Amino acid sequence: MDKLLITGGNRLHGEVTISGAKNAALPILCAALLAETPLHLSSIAALKDIDTTLKLLGMMGVKVSRHEDKVSLDASEVASFEATYEMVKTMRASILVLGPLLARFGTARVSLPGGCAIGSRPVDLHIKGLQAMGAALHITHGYIQASTLHLPNRRLQGVRYYMDLVTVTGTENLMMAATLAEGTTVLENAAKEPEVVDLAEMLIKMGAKITGAGTDVITIEGVEKLNGTTHNVVCDRIEAGTYMVAAAMTGGEVKLLNARADLLDAVIEKLREAGATVTSDANTITVKSDGLLKAVNIRTAPHPAFPTDMQAQFMALNTVATGVSKVTETIFENRFMHVQEMQRMGADISIDGNTALVKGVPVLDGATVMATDLRASASLVLSGLVARGDTVVERIYHLDRGYEHLERKLNALGANVKRLSS
Ligand code: UD1
Repeated sequence: MDKLLITGGNRLHGEVTISGAKNAALPILCAALLAETPLHLSSIAALKDIDTTLKLLGMMGVKVSRHEDKVSLDASEVASFEATYEMVKTMRASILVLGPLLARFGTARVSLPGGCAIGSRPVDLHIKGLQAMGAALHITHGYIQASTLHLPNRRLQGVRYYMDLVTVTGTENLMMAATLAEGTTVLENAAKEPEVVDLAEMLIKMGAKITGAGTDVITIEGVEKLNGTTHNVVCDRIEAGTYMVAAAMTGGEVKLLNARADLLDAVIEKLREAGATVTSDANTITVKSDGLLKAVNIRTAPHPAFPTDMQAQFMALNTVATGVSKVTETIFENRFMHVQEMQRMGADISIDGNTALVKGVPVLDGATVMATDLRASASLVLSGLVARGDTVVERIYHLDRGYEHLERKLNALGANVKRLSS
């Protein structure tokens, strides 16, 4: 398994181009299943999760062609309606094929994801929402077996549905399903994340009738069919946020190209509170810092509040900031897996329930560390960038799932990062 060797101490300087968002691309790729004619996408990042999704769609009979960041998908001849355990266990977001398959073909068999490194992460709201739309869903042998064959014209039925919890992929799955349902669906307490909005914008170009995406009530008037379109995936706000923290922690100056400050209000606010200077225009964000940062309290919550996917990176920042901070995680119950690794680098962190108390230390020491999820791995890279000496981050397949060309981008900014292949 590949590792990253990071020699800390370099200030980051220069420009970095942010890739298309992984979390927008995954539902958008799955939405190809809804279209009777080809879908043409751009800004599809070279990431393991994208490869997995394309493989899954290919297994169903979707014709996939890919050139650099462009992907075309033709779902005119889908032959299989199944996402196997083998696929879903490597990527939970595979559950996003459930809504589209059911809506267009009236049948789907999708493995239940099971647990994951950051918590139990059930998909009960995806299931209940589809049941509310009339689908027959049964769990057998670890699979969700879903059908609409008993419904008039085999179509899902529009419904008013309140989601108990704000769920991003749940909102996306139900919104996709509702596009081809009979009648109008109203999703209440919907996720407001920019990736939901990007998906909705593409579905509208495909012929869907959707209003309210980006608010907590989304209304979808079902149509009989959808066609392909062209779409450029929104920039990755979490990748952008990660480079912004890297610039702040290393005391550098980095300009992010293809980045949208309007999607990062809570993160930018916290960086400013920590003492960094952040400026932006329509498509760029610049972060400048002298590296002397103040500790900042963080509380994760659904968009537009502070994103859980930036929690670990800000924990890294707080470990070397002046003062004491509280980092509270409200979305996932087990998302402090990076803490023990940071402690091994000399960080002073104690955990009480869903809150971590971080006392800043003057410097971290390089060490061999590993993480069990994507953003935790990113936070260890950030720690390595400012640590004294060498840090080896193991199990970097997590990083390859979500950060395009990470070491190339960091090195272009002046970092010293090497990939060690085994
Ligand atoms: C998505 C993102 C992930 C991000 C998360 C929260 C993708 C591919 N992944 O994950 O990067 O960290 O949003 O912003 O977009 N829940 C239930 N039942 C459900 C669904 C969710 O109890 O049916 C709970 C989850 O366990 C969690 C909370 O709701 O505690 C929010 O999860 P959710 O928004 O669904 O996360 P994902 O969509 O899986």
